[in-house]
Amino acid sequence: MFNRLFSGIKSFVMSSTIKPDVVFVLGAPGAGKGTQCENIVKQFGFVHLSAGDLLREERNKEGSEYGELIEETIRNGRIVPVEITCSLIEMAMKKSGSNKFLIDGFPRNKDNLDGWNRQMASNVNLLFVLFFDCPQEVCVNRCLQRGAGGSGRSDDNPESLKKRFHTYMNDTMPIIRYYEEKNLVKHVDAGGTPDEIFEAVKAIYQNMPPCN
Ligand code: C5P
Ligand code: MG
Repeated sequence: MFNRLFSGIKSFVMSSTIKPDVVFVLGAPGAGKGTQCENIVKQFGFVHLSAGDLLREERNKEGSEYGELIEETIRNGRIVPVEITCSLIEMAMKKSGSNKFLIDGFPRNKDNLDGWNRQMASNVNLLFVLFFDCPQEVCVNRCLQRGAGGSGRSDDNPESLKKRFHTYMNDTMPIIRYYEEKNLVKHVDAGGTPDEIFEAVKAIYQNMPPCN
């Protein structure tokens, strides 16, 4: 009886102190981050939080204080201040009740990285950074097709794409290099078909240390 009570208390304390596992998912616009995250969710049970989706959701909320700022920033391919993005991520993590997260499209620049390191880094267990490495030409074509196919996104057009790639090369690549120096980056060749890319992703997940 006491043993059972004790083990119940112990597992409660453990579950409330274990840090959630986080995988960051980075890559150029159109590299296939969202598509592969859906596959990972199905096969490996992570919760997918796309920073871009969270920002678009916030922008669409009636009366959102940040709606205009977010829309203008997205259309210009720039990066929204981290205070907004990090809070949206933190709220979504809490709301999900999960302890395994794929955080897609974040951290995208130094402001994102610094904000995360200030606010969140010590409360999570960063497993690795999944980097979808894909030639720019392939990425641009995918985004233009997505736009033509009615993605409804205000940034899947040639003008916004040029700015998004500029931001990616100048602001996001240094973040990937930062994590490379920490030996945390898992490269995926993302130029192939979704099935081919998922084979490479699976190999990474299957070699991963067990989650909490
Ligand atoms: O990742 P996704 O392509 O959906 O992001 C769309 C846009 O959302 C980005 O080009 C950027 O303007 C904005 N964004 C941001 N900060 C992030 C992720 C996305 O400002 N961390
Ligand atoms: Mg996406």
